[in-house]
Amino acid sequence: MSIAQDPVDGPIGQALWARADQVLPGGGIYYSRSADFAGRGVLPGFIASAQGCRVTDVDGRTYIDFLCANGPNILGYRHPEVEAAARRQAEQQTSASFFPPALVEVIERLVARVPGMAFGVTSKNGSEVVSLGVRMARQHTGRRTVITFDRAYHGSDPELANRPPPGPLSDGVRDIVRLPWNDPQRLADHCAAHADTTAAILLNPLDQNPGLQTVAPSPEFLGAIRAAQARHDIQLVFDDVRHGFRLDPVGSFRPLGLEPDVAAFGKALGNGYAISALVAREHLRAAARKIFYTSTFMFEASAMAAAMAMLEIYERDNVFAHITAMGERLRAGILAAAAKAGQAITYTGPVTMPTLLLADDPGGARLKMFARAASGRGAILHPNLNWNLSGAHQPADIDETIAIAAEAFAETPGPG
Ligand SMILES: Cc1ncc(COP(=O)(O)O)c(C=O)c1O
Repeated sequence: MSIAQDPVDGPIGQALWARADQVLPGGGIYYSRSADFAGRGVLPGFIASAQGCRVTDVDGRTYIDFLCANGPNILGYRHPEVEAAARRQAEQQTSASFFPPALVEVIERLVARVPGMAFGVTSKNGSEVVSLGVRMARQHTGRRTVITFDRAYHGSDPELANRPPPGPLSDGVRDIVRLPWNDPQRLADHCAAHADTTAAILLNPLDQNPGLQTVAPSPEFLGAIRAAQARHDIQLVFDDVRHGFRLDPVGSFRPLGLEPDVAAFGKALGNGYAISALVAREHLRAAARKIFYTSTFMFEASAMAAAMAMLEIYERDNVFAHITAMGERLRAGILAAAAKAGQAITYTGPVTMPTLLLADDPGGARLKMFARAASGRGAILHPNLNWNLSGAHQPADIDETIAIAAEAFAETPGPG
């Protein structure tokens, strides 16, 4: 089966692609969030509606979705209580002239969730709060350089992006130092030699990148990060935009034994409504007050109401335990299905955010065939991005997915 000859998109989806190709710029703009990231025709290009753990494309085909909007869907699409909270707020106001009360309420709640945090800021996307956290660290320390690691993704801000911008480098980009993940000695040496110019370490909880095995930080590496904070006053800006709520109910830094100076959240926070946030320690407040930061829609209040409902339901329903149990069930089933089909696979990363790799599959061509076969049978199992579990995935959905994966493995050619 050639993907191009048998795209998962039906006639309406294909017609929309034809129009999109005329008026969208293409290239890197929108790319990683478009179905094209997996190769045109592997995944449905246009989603008309979503409910629970399922999405329906414009041609009316429904899929069990394990991308979860690339993170935001943590409770289930269109969770009734989140929708009701957002609607109630929208009936009062969405964007009005000054602060909505929901701003204070949501920041109070966020600050209270993370021990040691004193104040917070909400925004709309992860990139904005990560960049703001970096600015706070620079303002506080009076230093410019920020350490990040290997291919770590921190959003598309050109300064923090994990690929150099195509145009001339700005000074900001020059102030980013990329060190190897899990090399405590390099980190310690760098921090000792450049303490007077290093403002922050910008950290993800995992080294988790498309097409690669997920690598957890080693205890020694974590020790070097703590030492950089303690010895050199380097600020730890923890980027929990992607992993927040899926590695730990409070923050992914907690199981790592880290105490960030700034923690940034996004994606799952509003269960699909556009809200991101950072929380920070008291010592950064004076620096934060000197920063000019605003945007037209940062006070849009229905997303704040959605976030408060999300946090309430997430804790009340112990969603973290649920996604862990569903993730374990999926992992066991996928491993068994692959073994039965004679496919050598690596199932890597936390069970709530796993990545599937096929053995001897340079470039991931066979994995795309697997993903296309799964799409055709009604499951979105992205071949490039990690999968995400949600509170709406129930055992029956997982078992249906495992049965789909078994057929997809059988249809996927072996290596060579
Ligand atoms: C770890 C991490 N940080 C930051 C971001 C940027 O968030 P946003 O795309 O909402 O700007 C992302 C987005 O995928 C992310 O995965």
